[in-house]
Amino acid sequence: MRTPMIAGNWKMNKTEAEALNLIRVLMQWVRSYSGVEVLICPPFTSLSTLNKLLVSSPILLGAQNISDQPPGAFTGEISATMAAEFCTHVILGHSERRAYYGEENVLINRKLKAAISADLIPVLCVGEVLTEREAGKADHVVSHQLQEALGGIHLEDPTKMIIAYEPVWAIGTGRSASPEEISDLIARVIRPTLSGLWGEGISQGIRVLYGGSVNSKNAGGFFNTAEIDGALVGGASLTAEKFLGIIEKTQKI
Ligand code: PGA
Repeated sequence: MRTPMIAGNWKMNKTEAEALNLIRVLMQWVRSYSGVEVLICPPFTSLSTLNKLLVSSPILLGAQNISDQPPGAFTGEISATMAAEFCTHVILGHSERRAYYGEENVLINRKLKAAISADLIPVLCVGEVLTEREAGKADHVVSHQLQEALGGIHLEDPTKMIIAYEPVWAIGTGRSASPEEISDLIARVIRPTLSGLWGEGISQGIRVLYGGSVNSKNAGGFFNTAEIDGALVGGASLTAEKFLGIIEKTQKI
């Protein structure tokens, strides 16, 4: 009942010209897939151009971050309403923002609220670092991140929130978690936490993606499990062939 989603996080890659080249190839192919939503999150600098090009394409666009503040004197920031002019989704709480820019759950909570008031659908990233996993704390860390980041948020429509479980030790390292480990954590920790916040019905409707070194070879294993509703893809979203190879795997579910 949950439509799978494949999201590409381009991170700090692609000039506008490079972004156009890649999106033109993706546009040609994405139409031929059914039963899957494809989301591309380019840097802010390409959002406006890609938005114009994608008017009649099923490809969805998202930002990689927004400010927690309303428009005003915040040099270098982009507000939720400004991003919402060009896209429908926004990645929040990515581990790189947590690690390199000191973003904590309290700030992420404010960003989530700003996103929702601007009608942006958040893709909230959660996940434990290696030391936390080795200390047996992954469950606690993920549940705590969800509870703090989502605290005080009222959700009536489960399609208006997406969670990406990304164990930090699996991001960009070539080392992915096993589909069984991921499914298990989603079923044991993520869905019950969401259910505690918004009830079982809403919890069952929210898509939970896996992220961390997903490629066309390992993607099928993730998508064949009942709990994993798609992927948030970094490195492999930067080339058309690799990204399309991942989307292709959703067609065999
Ligand atoms: P990766 O990145 O696919 O390169 O591991 C995933 C992410 O950071 O969302």
